[in-house]
Amino acid sequence: DSTTTTAPAPAPAPDIRKGLTGVVVDTTAISKVNPDTNSLLYRGYPVQELAAAKRFEEVAYLLWHGELPDAAQLAAFRAGERAGRALQPNVRTAIDLLPTTAHPMDVVRTAVSVFGASDPTADDSSPEANLAKAKALFAALPAMVAYDQRRRRGQVVVPPRDDLGYSANFLYMTFGEVPDQLVVDAFDVSMILYAEHSFNASTFTARVITSTLSDLYSAVVGAIGALKGPLHGGANEAVMHLFEEIGSAENVTPWLDGALAERRKIMGFGHRVYKSGDSRVPTMKSALDTLIAHYDRPDVAALYDALATEFVARTGIHPNLDYPSGPAYHLMGFDTPTFTPLFVASRVTGWTAHIIEQAAANALIRPLSVYDGVEERHVPVVVGRP
Ligand code: ACO
Repeated sequence: DSTTTTAPAPAPAPDIRKGLTGVVVDTTAISKVNPDTNSLLYRGYPVQELAAAKRFEEVAYLLWHGELPDAAQLAAFRAGERAGRALQPNVRTAIDLLPTTAHPMDVVRTAVSVFGASDPTADDSSPEANLAKAKALFAALPAMVAYDQRRRRGQVVVPPRDDLGYSANFLYMTFGEVPDQLVVDAFDVSMILYAEHSFNASTFTARVITSTLSDLYSAVVGAIGALKGPLHGGANEAVMHLFEEIGSAENVTPWLDGALAERRKIMGFGHRVYKSGDSRVPTMKSALDTLIAHYDRPDVAALYDALATEFVARTGIHPNLDYPSGPAYHLMGFDTPTFTPLFVASRVTGWTAHIIEQAAANALIRPLSVYDGVEERHVPVVVGRP
């Protein structure tokens, strides 16, 4: 019978990956995260080797240019960075308009937006223009973060010093003095470790924004918004609140009994990609140990070790980078809400490297969804519009 037809095969169930877990969306030549070996490479170099032998300026250059700078390239890059350090008057005015009760992440997000809107080349997204903007933001961010902490403390702005490297000058603009070299080194290590981590939530946000052919500043502002959340960058601040809540090493066991019974998320532990330990933690932990010895704070060491040891033993979930960096920034003297803006100052290097990479081989990032709302329905017919 020629009218007989076979029923069409049912459509395969859509493969929904909530949170994009396990989804590979693109290639990148900027960094490689290998959870099997707990390793992280920036442009091929293990991050631990970079932290041991290089300054943050060199690592920033590496992320953008793909190679470490030679002496002349580094000198030129440093000269540009030093020339762009001062707080722009209009950025300062914008910061002053914000209440000191505003979260520092909201302040830095606003400051970057004002900085971008003041750049007449903001909409030039050529690789050269984007690289220049990335370097300008890298140079300008420390003054924004430092000034915001100072104004909260009722202190005046500290202009940058040309004779200091990036990290020493950052600390100088924040505290009005240059701390011991070992403190500068620990800060520099944290900047290197935070700089880049493939398609994390904030970097992916920056790439999504870039994929619409929007400008670099819009992508960075969006990335700051994504970084603020406690499941991402906001965790370094949250770790410090946790330390304050627990108080001391003796309280860890009863505190953890309660927290686990309530199924609380413990900030500073766990990672979407690393399941058996974060490659960056040992390096940051050793920087933290140096600070603990320098500031003579065995109580911090005891609490850190007690919580980490017991949490890992009871859950199998390991600390991430935010766990050692939170107390490290605290010991350096930063206010707890300033911790995540420090992450911004570092990660702006990775974000902008990804923005440039995305723009160079762009495809609009636009996933699909399965509709599960009410079935189609119709508006009752009325005669004429009300
Ligand atoms: N505390 C308690 N339980 C946790 C934690 C944690 N920190 N992390 C994961 N788990 C548990 C979850 O409750 C879940 O348990 P269940 O299966 O019984 O429901 C299981 O482990 C899997 O966790 P998910 O959240 O589904 O895994 P995901 O891959 O989405 O998690 C994340 C990654 C979001 C980082 C998570 O570990 C977390 O929320 N950690 C705390 C926040 C944090 O520290 N973020 C910083 C990330 S690193 C960085 O930004 C530098």
